[in-house]
Amino acid sequence: MAATLAFTLLLLSTISCLANALSSNYYDHTCPRLEYTVNSAVKKAMMNDKTVPAALLRMHFHDCFIRGCDASVLLESKGKNKAEKDAPPNISLHAFYVIDNAKKAVETQCPGVVSCADILSLAARDAVALSGGPTWEVPKGRKDGKISKASDTRQLPGPTFNISQLQQSFSQRGLSMEDLVALSGGHTLGFAHCSSFQNRIHNFNASLDTDPSIHPSFAASLRSVCPFRNKVRNAGASLDSTTTSFDNAYYKLLLQGKSIFSSDQALLTNPKTKALVSKFASNQNEFENAFVKSMIKMSNISGGGQEIRLDCKVVR
Ligand code: HEM
Repeated sequence: MAATLAFTLLLLSTISCLANALSSNYYDHTCPRLEYTVNSAVKKAMMNDKTVPAALLRMHFHDCFIRGCDASVLLESKGKNKAEKDAPPNISLHAFYVIDNAKKAVETQCPGVVSCADILSLAARDAVALSGGPTWEVPKGRKDGKISKASDTRQLPGPTFNISQLQQSFSQRGLSMEDLVALSGGHTLGFAHCSSFQNRIHNFNASLDTDPSIHPSFAASLRSVCPFRNKVRNAGASLDSTTTSFDNAYYKLLLQGKSIFSSDQALLTNPKTKALVSKFASNQNEFENAFVKSMIKMSNISGGGQEIRLDCKVVR
Protein backbone atom coordinates (compact mmCIF):
# COMPACT_ATOMS: atom_id res chain seq x y z
CA MET A 1 0.00 0.00 0.00
CA ALA A 2 2.74 2.44 1.06
CA ALA A 3 4.75 1.46 -2.03
CA THR A 4 1.74 2.17 -4.30
CA LEU A 5 1.23 5.56 -2.65
CA ALA A 6 4.92 6.43 -3.03
CA PHE A 7 4.82 5.36 -6.68
CA THR A 8 1.69 7.46 -7.35
CA LEU A 9 3.27 10.52 -5.70
CA LEU A 10 6.44 10.06 -7.74
CA LEU A 11 4.40 9.72 -10.93
CA LEU A 12 2.38 12.86 -10.12
CA SER A 13 5.46 14.91 -9.36
CA THR A 14 7.14 13.71 -12.58
CA ILE A 15 4.05 14.68 -14.58
CA SER A 16 3.95 18.11 -12.93
CA CYS A 17 7.68 18.61 -13.63
CA LEU A 18 7.17 17.66 -17.24
CA ALA A 19 4.18 19.98 -17.44
CA ASN A 20 6.38 22.84 -16.20
CA ALA A 21 9.36 22.02 -18.41
CA LEU A 22 10.10 24.60 -21.05
CA SER A 23 10.75 23.60 -24.63
CA SER A 24 12.09 25.26 -27.75
CA ASN A 25 9.19 24.11 -29.93
CA TYR A 26 6.45 24.93 -27.42
CA TYR A 27 4.46 27.18 -29.80
CA ASP A 28 5.36 25.46 -33.07
CA HIS A 29 1.75 24.47 -33.71
CA THR A 30 -0.15 27.06 -31.69
CA CYS A 31 1.74 30.20 -32.77
CA PRO A 32 4.19 29.40 -35.56
CA ARG A 33 5.07 33.00 -36.41
CA LEU A 34 5.73 34.03 -32.81
CA GLU A 35 9.51 34.44 -33.05
CA TYR A 36 9.34 36.39 -36.28
CA THR A 37 6.69 38.69 -34.81
CA VAL A 38 8.64 39.46 -31.63
CA ASN A 39 11.82 39.98 -33.62
CA SER A 40 10.06 42.47 -35.91
CA ALA A 41 8.75 44.46 -32.93
CA VAL A 42 12.24 44.66 -31.39
CA LYS A 43 13.84 45.63 -34.72
CA LYS A 44 11.26 48.34 -35.36
CA ALA A 45 11.73 49.87 -31.92
CA MET A 46 15.53 49.78 -32.24
CA MET A 47 15.38 51.74 -35.47
CA ASN A 48 13.91 54.68 -33.56
CA ASP A 49 15.71 54.25 -30.26
CA LYS A 50 19.17 52.79 -29.79
CA THR A 51 18.62 52.35 -26.04
CA VAL A 52 15.95 49.68 -26.51
CA PRO A 53 18.20 46.55 -26.48
CA ALA A 54 19.82 47.46 -23.15
CA ALA A 55 16.40 48.16 -21.66
CA LEU A 56 14.98 44.79 -22.75
CA LEU A 57 17.97 42.83 -21.49
CA ARG A 58 17.83 44.46 -18.06
CA MET A 59 14.04 44.10 -17.90
CA HIS A 60 14.35 40.34 -18.40
CA PHE A 61 17.01 40.08 -15.68
CA HIS A 62 14.86 42.04 -13.23
CA ASP A 63 11.86 39.90 -14.10
CA CYS A 64 13.67 36.60 -13.56
CA PHE A 65 15.28 37.63 -10.26
CA ILE A 66 11.93 38.42 -8.63
CA ARG A 67 9.43 35.54 -8.44
CA GLY A 68 11.12 33.84 -11.40
CA CYS A 69 10.59 34.69 -15.07
CA ASP A 70 6.85 35.30 -14.85
CA ALA A 71 6.48 38.81 -16.31
CA SER A 72 5.75 40.21 -12.82
CA VAL A 73 7.94 43.19 -13.77
CA LEU A 74 5.44 44.14 -16.48
CA LEU A 75 2.39 44.48 -14.22
CA GLU A 76 1.16 47.96 -13.30
CA SER A 77 0.39 49.16 -9.80
CA LYS A 78 -3.28 48.82 -8.96
CA GLY A 79 -5.23 50.31 -6.05
CA LYS A 80 -3.11 49.96 -2.93
CA ASN A 81 -0.71 47.52 -4.54
CA LYS A 82 2.51 49.15 -5.68
CA ALA A 83 4.01 46.95 -8.39
CA GLU A 84 7.69 46.00 -8.95
CA LYS A 85 7.81 48.45 -11.83
CA ASP A 86 7.30 51.40 -9.50
CA ALA A 87 10.00 50.46 -7.00
CA PRO A 88 13.32 52.40 -6.92
CA PRO A 89 15.53 49.80 -8.65
CA ASN A 90 13.05 49.60 -11.53
CA ILE A 91 12.27 53.29 -12.03
CA SER A 92 14.90 53.47 -14.77
CA LEU A 93 13.58 50.41 -16.61
CA HIS A 94 12.11 51.56 -19.90
CA ALA A 95 10.88 50.44 -23.33
CA PHE A 96 7.94 48.50 -21.87
CA TYR A 97 6.07 49.61 -24.98
CA VAL A 98 8.16 47.21 -27.08
CA ILE A 99 6.75 44.23 -25.18
CA ASP A 100 3.24 45.69 -25.41
CA ASN A 101 3.57 46.13 -29.17
CA ALA A 102 4.94 42.60 -29.61
CA LYS A 103 2.13 41.20 -27.46
CA LYS A 104 -0.54 43.05 -29.47
CA ALA A 105 0.87 41.69 -32.72
CA VAL A 106 1.08 38.17 -31.28
CA GLU A 107 -2.51 38.39 -29.95
CA THR A 108 -3.87 39.13 -33.42
CA GLN A 109 -2.24 35.93 -34.71
CA CYS A 110 -2.79 33.55 -31.81
CA PRO A 111 -5.08 35.00 -29.16
CA GLY A 112 -4.59 33.97 -25.54
CA VAL A 113 -1.81 31.50 -26.29
CA VAL A 114 1.58 33.13 -25.68
CA SER A 115 2.70 34.35 -22.24
CA CYS A 116 4.17 37.80 -21.70
CA ALA A 117 7.04 36.08 -19.85
CA ASP A 118 7.97 34.18 -23.04
CA ILE A 119 7.70 37.33 -25.15
CA LEU A 120 10.07 39.15 -22.78
CA SER A 121 12.56 36.29 -22.87
CA LEU A 122 12.50 36.25 -26.68
CA ALA A 123 12.80 40.03 -26.87
CA ALA A 124 15.88 39.98 -24.58
CA ARG A 125 17.49 37.32 -26.79
CA ASP A 126 16.74 39.38 -29.91
CA ALA A 127 18.07 42.53 -28.24
CA VAL A 128 21.43 40.81 -27.74
CA ALA A 129 21.56 39.29 -31.23
CA LEU A 130 20.51 42.52 -32.96
CA SER A 131 23.29 44.35 -31.09
CA GLY A 132 25.90 42.07 -32.67
CA GLY A 133 25.90 39.45 -29.93
CA PRO A 134 25.15 35.73 -30.09
CA THR A 135 21.75 34.19 -30.62
CA TRP A 136 20.24 31.05 -29.11
CA GLU A 137 17.08 28.95 -28.90
CA VAL A 138 14.83 30.23 -26.13
CA PRO A 139 13.03 27.46 -24.25
CA LYS A 140 9.38 28.53 -23.94
CA GLY A 141 6.19 27.66 -22.08
CA ARG A 142 6.40 30.06 -19.13
CA LYS A 143 3.19 31.24 -17.53
CA ASP A 144 2.46 34.78 -16.37
CA GLY A 145 2.27 35.50 -12.66
CA LYS A 146 -0.49 37.38 -10.90
CA ILE A 147 1.58 39.02 -8.17
CA SER A 148 3.89 42.01 -8.41
CA LYS A 149 5.03 43.79 -5.25
CA ALA A 150 7.38 46.75 -5.11
CA SER A 151 8.80 45.49 -1.80
CA ASP A 152 10.11 42.31 -3.49
CA THR A 153 12.60 44.36 -5.49
CA ARG A 154 14.72 44.69 -2.33
CA GLN A 155 15.93 41.24 -3.32
CA LEU A 156 17.60 42.56 -6.48
CA PRO A 157 21.39 42.80 -6.28
CA GLY A 158 22.53 46.39 -5.82
CA PRO A 159 25.39 48.28 -7.50
CA THR A 160 27.24 48.60 -4.18
CA PHE A 161 27.23 44.83 -3.53
CA ASN A 162 30.51 43.09 -2.74
CA ILE A 163 31.44 39.69 -4.13
CA SER A 164 29.90 37.65 -1.32
CA GLN A 165 26.61 39.53 -1.55
CA LEU A 166 26.59 39.00 -5.32
CA GLN A 167 27.43 35.34 -4.96
CA GLN A 168 24.64 34.88 -2.42
CA SER A 169 22.07 36.66 -4.58
CA PHE A 170 22.96 34.51 -7.59
CA SER A 171 23.27 31.21 -5.75
CA GLN A 172 19.84 31.71 -4.16
CA ARG A 173 18.54 31.49 -7.72
CA GLY A 174 20.61 28.48 -8.70
CA LEU A 175 23.22 30.58 -10.50
CA SER A 176 26.96 30.01 -10.11
CA MET A 177 30.00 32.30 -9.93
CA GLU A 178 30.52 31.67 -13.64
CA ASP A 179 26.93 32.75 -14.32
CA LEU A 180 27.56 35.89 -12.25
CA VAL A 181 30.61 36.86 -14.30
CA ALA A 182 29.07 35.95 -17.66
CA LEU A 183 25.77 37.73 -16.97
CA SER A 184 27.52 40.83 -15.63
CA GLY A 185 28.73 41.06 -19.23
CA GLY A 186 25.21 42.39 -19.91
CA HIS A 187 26.86 45.66 -18.90
CA THR A 188 28.35 45.76 -22.38
CA LEU A 189 25.10 47.53 -23.30
CA GLY A 190 23.46 50.60 -21.88
CA PHE A 191 23.73 53.40 -19.43
CA ALA A 192 23.79 54.18 -15.70
CA HIS A 193 22.48 57.23 -13.87
CA CYS A 194 24.84 59.10 -11.53
CA SER A 195 22.94 57.86 -8.47
CA SER A 196 23.97 54.27 -9.29
CA PHE A 197 27.70 54.93 -8.94
CA GLN A 198 28.04 58.13 -6.91
CA ASN A 199 29.24 56.11 -3.91
CA ARG A 200 32.48 55.54 -5.84
CA ILE A 201 33.23 59.12 -6.86
CA HIS A 202 32.14 61.27 -3.91
CA ASN A 203 32.75 60.61 -0.18
CA PHE A 204 33.92 57.07 -0.93
CA ASN A 205 35.05 56.52 2.67
CA ALA A 206 36.30 58.46 5.70
CA SER A 207 39.70 59.16 4.14
CA LEU A 208 39.15 58.99 0.39
CA ASP A 209 36.78 60.88 -1.85
CA THR A 210 37.12 58.45 -4.75
CA ASP A 211 37.29 54.66 -4.94
CA PRO A 212 41.02 54.01 -5.50
CA SER A 213 40.24 51.02 -7.73
CA ILE A 214 38.92 53.39 -10.43
CA HIS A 215 41.50 54.52 -13.00
CA PRO A 216 42.24 58.20 -12.14
CA SER A 217 41.38 59.63 -15.57
CA PHE A 218 38.20 57.58 -15.68
CA ALA A 219 37.23 58.76 -12.19
CA ALA A 220 37.79 62.36 -13.33
CA SER A 221 35.52 61.86 -16.34
CA LEU A 222 32.80 60.31 -14.16
CA ARG A 223 33.07 63.20 -11.71
CA SER A 224 32.74 65.70 -14.52
CA VAL A 225 29.44 64.20 -15.72
CA CYS A 226 28.25 63.60 -12.17
CA PRO A 227 29.48 66.44 -9.94
CA PHE A 228 28.75 66.31 -6.21
CA ARG A 229 25.06 67.10 -5.64
CA ASN A 230 24.47 66.73 -9.37
CA LYS A 231 21.23 68.46 -10.43
CA VAL A 232 21.01 67.25 -14.02
CA ARG A 233 18.18 64.74 -14.02
CA ASN A 234 19.31 62.20 -16.56
CA ALA A 235 23.05 62.60 -16.17
CA GLY A 236 25.15 59.47 -16.13
CA ALA A 237 27.62 57.35 -18.04
CA SER A 238 27.70 54.53 -20.57
CA LEU A 239 28.37 51.12 -19.10
CA ASP A 240 31.18 50.51 -21.59
CA SER A 241 32.89 52.32 -24.44
CA THR A 242 30.79 50.56 -27.12
CA THR A 243 27.42 51.00 -25.52
CA THR A 244 25.23 49.73 -28.37
CA SER A 245 27.44 46.79 -29.40
CA PHE A 246 27.33 43.51 -27.60
CA ASP A 247 31.04 42.69 -27.22
CA ASN A 248 33.64 41.92 -24.54
CA ALA A 249 34.83 45.53 -24.09
CA TYR A 250 33.17 45.55 -20.65
CA TYR A 251 35.70 42.97 -19.36
CA LYS A 252 38.68 44.72 -20.96
CA LEU A 253 37.68 48.01 -19.33
CA LEU A 254 37.00 46.29 -16.02
CA LEU A 255 40.62 45.07 -15.94
CA GLN A 256 41.77 48.67 -16.48
CA GLY A 257 39.73 50.06 -13.56
CA LYS A 258 37.14 51.49 -15.93
CA SER A 259 33.96 49.81 -14.76
CA ILE A 260 30.98 51.75 -13.51
CA PHE A 261 29.63 49.94 -10.46
CA SER A 262 31.28 48.65 -7.29
CA SER A 263 29.54 45.36 -8.16
CA ASP A 264 31.47 45.21 -11.46
CA GLN A 265 34.76 45.99 -9.73
CA ALA A 266 33.92 43.34 -7.11
CA LEU A 267 34.38 40.64 -9.76
CA LEU A 268 38.13 41.26 -9.48
CA THR A 269 38.21 40.66 -5.74
CA ASN A 270 37.92 36.87 -5.89
CA PRO A 271 40.49 34.69 -7.68
CA LYS A 272 37.88 32.57 -9.44
CA THR A 273 35.77 35.44 -10.75
CA LYS A 274 38.89 37.45 -11.62
CA ALA A 275 40.19 34.56 -13.75
CA LEU A 276 36.86 34.45 -15.59
CA VAL A 277 36.96 38.21 -16.22
CA SER A 278 40.45 37.80 -17.75
CA LYS A 279 39.29 34.86 -19.86
CA PHE A 280 36.29 36.78 -21.23
CA ALA A 281 38.41 39.92 -21.80
CA SER A 282 40.84 37.99 -23.95
CA ASN A 283 38.37 35.82 -25.82
CA GLN A 284 35.04 37.10 -27.12
CA ASN A 285 33.92 33.58 -28.11
CA GLU A 286 34.42 32.24 -24.60
CA PHE A 287 32.35 35.16 -23.31
CA GLU A 288 29.55 34.63 -25.82
CA ASN A 289 29.32 30.89 -25.16
CA ALA A 290 29.23 31.43 -21.41
CA PHE A 291 26.71 34.26 -21.74
CA VAL A 292 24.31 32.12 -23.78
CA LYS A 293 24.56 29.24 -21.31
CA SER A 294 23.92 31.55 -18.37
CA MET A 295 21.07 33.44 -20.05
CA ILE A 296 19.27 30.15 -20.70
CA LYS A 297 19.82 29.20 -17.06
CA MET A 298 18.60 32.58 -15.79
CA SER A 299 15.56 32.57 -18.04
CA ASN A 300 14.69 29.11 -16.69
CA ILE A 301 14.25 30.39 -13.12
CA SER A 302 10.74 29.23 -12.71
CA GLY A 303 8.01 31.50 -11.49
CA GLY A 304 4.69 30.52 -10.02
CA GLY A 305 2.89 31.84 -13.10
CA GLN A 306 -0.60 30.48 -13.71
CA GLU A 307 -2.05 32.30 -16.68
CA ILE A 308 -1.58 33.76 -20.14
CA ARG A 309 -2.26 37.49 -19.83
CA LEU A 310 -4.05 39.25 -22.66
CA ASP A 311 -2.48 42.59 -21.80
CA CYS A 312 0.99 42.35 -20.26
CA LYS A 313 0.24 45.22 -17.86
CA VAL A 314 -2.74 43.62 -16.09
CA VAL A 315 -3.74 40.23 -14.72
CA ARG A 316 -6.73 38.62 -16.35
C1 HEM B 1 25.36 41.39 -10.96
C2 HEM B 1 24.48 42.20 -10.44
C3 HEM B 1 23.99 43.43 -11.13
C4 HEM B 1 23.89 44.67 -10.60
C5 HEM B 1 24.23 45.05 -9.19
C6 HEM B 1 23.39 45.55 -11.64
C7 HEM B 1 23.11 46.89 -11.46
C8 HEM B 1 22.76 47.75 -12.48
C9 HEM B 1 22.50 49.16 -12.31
C10 HEM B 1 22.54 49.90 -10.98
C11 HEM B 1 22.22 49.68 -13.52
C12 HEM B 1 21.99 51.14 -13.86
C13 HEM B 1 20.61 51.63 -13.54
C14 HEM B 1 20.51 53.10 -13.79
O1 HEM B 1 21.29 53.84 -13.21
O2 HEM B 1 19.64 53.52 -14.57
C15 HEM B 1 22.30 48.60 -14.47
C16 HEM B 1 22.11 48.74 -15.81
C17 HEM B 1 22.05 47.68 -16.69
N1 HEM B 1 22.17 46.34 -16.36
FE1 HEM B 1 22.77 45.60 -14.60
N2 HEM B 1 23.21 44.83 -12.78
C18 HEM B 1 23.56 43.53 -12.52
C19 HEM B 1 23.45 42.48 -13.39
C20 HEM B 1 22.94 42.57 -14.66
C21 HEM B 1 22.60 41.44 -15.48
C22 HEM B 1 22.64 40.00 -15.04
C23 HEM B 1 22.18 41.95 -16.68
C24 HEM B 1 21.70 41.20 -17.89
C25 HEM B 1 22.12 40.02 -18.25
C26 HEM B 1 22.27 43.39 -16.61
C27 HEM B 1 22.00 44.26 -17.61
C28 HEM B 1 22.01 45.62 -17.50
C29 HEM B 1 21.83 46.51 -18.63
C30 HEM B 1 21.68 46.12 -20.09
C31 HEM B 1 21.83 47.80 -18.11
C32 HEM B 1 21.63 49.11 -18.89
C33 HEM B 1 20.16 49.45 -18.91
C34 HEM B 1 19.79 50.62 -19.78
O3 HEM B 1 20.65 51.28 -20.34
O4 HEM B 1 18.58 50.87 -19.88
N3 HEM B 1 22.71 43.72 -15.35
N4 HEM B 1 22.62 47.43 -13.81
